[in-house]
Amino acid sequence: MPSFRRNPTSSFKLLAAFLIITFYLVIRGFSGSESSSHKRRHAPLGAHIQFEGWKNGSGHADEEKATQVREAMKHTFSKYREYAWGYDDIKPVSGGNGTSRNGWGAFIVDTASTLALMGMWDELELEVDHIIDKVNFTTAYGLVDPFETTIRYLGGLLSVVDLIDAGTVPPGIIINSKRDALLAQAITLADKLAPSFDTPTGMVWPRVNFTTNEGSPDPPSVYLLDPSKPRYKNPSIGPARAGSNILENRVLSRLTGNVAYVNNATRAWAPLVWNKFDTPWPGMVDAPIDIITGAPVGRVRHWDAGHDSYYEYLIKVALLAQGDLYTPFYQNVWTDAVTALRHHLASRSAPQDNHKKQHVFMGKQEAGWFINEQSHLSCFAAGNIMLGARFLNHPNFLTLGQALLEGCRHVYASTPTHIGPETWSWIPKFGYGNATFHPSSDRQLQELNDTGIWMADAQFKLRPEYVESLFYGYRITGEERYRDWAWDAFRAFERHCKTKFGYAGLRDVTLRGGESNWKDEQESFWGAETLKYLWLIFKDPSVGSLDKWVYSTEGHLFRMIR
Ligand SMILES: *[C@@H]1O[C@H](CO)[C@@H](O)[C@H](O)[C@H]1NC(C)=O
Ligand SMILES: *[C@@H]1O[C@H](CO)[C@@H](O)[C@H](O)[C@H]1NC(C)=O
Ligand SMILES: *[C@@H]1O[C@H](CO)[C@@H](O)[C@H](O)[C@H]1NC(C)=O
Ligand SMILES: *[C@@H]1O[C@H](CO)[C@@H](O)[C@H](O)[C@H]1NC(C)=O
Ligand SMILES: *[C@@H]1O[C@H](CO)[C@@H](O)[C@H](O)[C@H]1NC(C)=O
Ligand SMILES: *[C@@H]1O[C@H](CO)[C@@H](O)[C@H](O)[C@H]1NC(C)=O
Repeated sequence: MPSFRRNPTSSFKLLAAFLIITFYLVIRGFSGSESSSHKRRHAPLGAHIQFEGWKNGSGHADEEKATQVREAMKHTFSKYREYAWGYDDIKPVSGGNGTSRNGWGAFIVDTASTLALMGMWDELELEVDHIIDKVNFTTAYGLVDPFETTIRYLGGLLSVVDLIDAGTVPPGIIINSKRDALLAQAITLADKLAPSFDTPTGMVWPRVNFTTNEGSPDPPSVYLLDPSKPRYKNPSIGPARAGSNILENRVLSRLTGNVAYVNNATRAWAPLVWNKFDTPWPGMVDAPIDIITGAPVGRVRHWDAGHDSYYEYLIKVALLAQGDLYTPFYQNVWTDAVTALRHHLASRSAPQDNHKKQHVFMGKQEAGWFINEQSHLSCFAAGNIMLGARFLNHPNFLTLGQALLEGCRHVYASTPTHIGPETWSWIPKFGYGNATFHPSSDRQLQELNDTGIWMADAQFKLRPEYVESLFYGYRITGEERYRDWAWDAFRAFERHCKTKFGYAGLRDVTLRGGESNWKDEQESFWGAETLKYLWLIFKDPSVGSLDKWVYSTEGHLFRMIR
């Protein structure tokens, strides 16, 4: 529908009409539900995502490796329990603690769905009791970030409810009886986040003040610490922070029968999905975006950090909410965005003297320049593209996803630790004239010559995106090499990141260095995602099947039901 992008007035009218119709349909769809909706019968949806060569999908576990990953989760949990219980995170080198996520015990809420999948019932019971008895979501340390809070806390709570409802927790385990209390905590939190939607466009505020219950711009520290984020006239936000709450809110509406959550989330990302501003690549938005007017205030366009999970959620909500009014539209926008990625962002690396092999990486576009830099975060795209390729039956996209995953694998395999860095660069085989980065030191030149890439930021932050995409790769294609690559990554994490108090990130993945190379940080996504995806790769494919579950951007799984 190209006219959507060319004619702002008519597109706004169309958008308004669309929204009114949806609200009507959504309300009608939910009107039969009572508040204790888990008693209601849900129609299973399902999809054929996983490798069909497995037939019934069973009999393919590698229990020995899965058990070793579970041991890593036990180490992570027990040290946190002993030294930092109730805090947001543990400092894995010093044994200290942090309150970086408003002080509600981010580790506890974020890892609960992992413990449920792994069947760590004693540990999960401690977490559930803490969440219900000790966490007060109505008060917060500091300003609340609706994006981080939605994906880590709200998603974490709702996933445990969905896992209980799906029968994952065996009968007789007391956690089953705490389902309603968990959901009540999720509702309290979501209702405290409600003021975040209070803008003329419906786009979310960057922060919420839980004392005044009002939206708030980013705190000044965001600009002072990161000069690449200038202060605009009005508060502005990137696509990821604006457009990554529809899964969680759709699930909350299903569980409560209250359509306000999904309606607000739909309105919040409408300026992205029904983008009325000129952009040369259909499906992709320019950013950042002014939350008061909905207009872009920058010319940055990509699938990398800050934009990533908006594109990720387009296809995931299409899977989660099959049959909803907008689902076909979301699928089309996602398809356009992948097509744009393929034509404009994917970039083949040029062969080098000592490294002739070429790889496919993904760069960024800023005001006509090609930014030949990719971040670890963006390795999620490989798995997301494979997921949508299988769902929409798009073989070319499957090839693209696999090529991008091979690129991330190459980055991991190229370093002495066999762990990939935070960001890296390459010489594009085509269009190097418009590329922004060139190797600038002897070290970078050496790395380029030997491996075809150079480190732009050599840190490792225990991020999940590479193993996440290996999970999709293995479950969708059944290719054993993805399991092998996952095992390589796990062994490298065990060897280089394991500490007395948990697992630490690395200052420089090109140094072996031991303790002096550790970063005293272990973000909750290590337990929520990195270890979860590694474990799932080795478990039987029927566990957490992609035919039945949709995983959020934080690795929380939701049921594919109506
Ligand atoms: C699936 O196949 C495996 C191996 O062939 C078999 O052991 C298992 O019982 C089957 N499971 C179901 C649910 O049919
Ligand atoms: C958490 O850290 C603070 C200060 O950094 C310290 O005073 C406190 O004892 C720590 N808590 C635990 C449980 O170790
Ligand atoms: C949470 O904190 C608020 C504000 O201090 C208080 O009014 C409320 O009673 C607390 N809720 C619970 C369940 O303790
Ligand atoms: C919330 O707003 C109140 C009133 O303006 C202010 O005093 C307080 O510092 C704000 N909270 C935070 C965490 O900034
Ligand atoms: C929905 O958004 C409106 C602002 O448009 C806000 O006033 C309301 O509290 C929000 N409700 C929920 C449940 O988020
Ligand atoms: C840079 O990009 C522009 C527009 O895409 C193109 O016309 C030009 O040839 C490119 N320059 C080089 C040196 O690649």
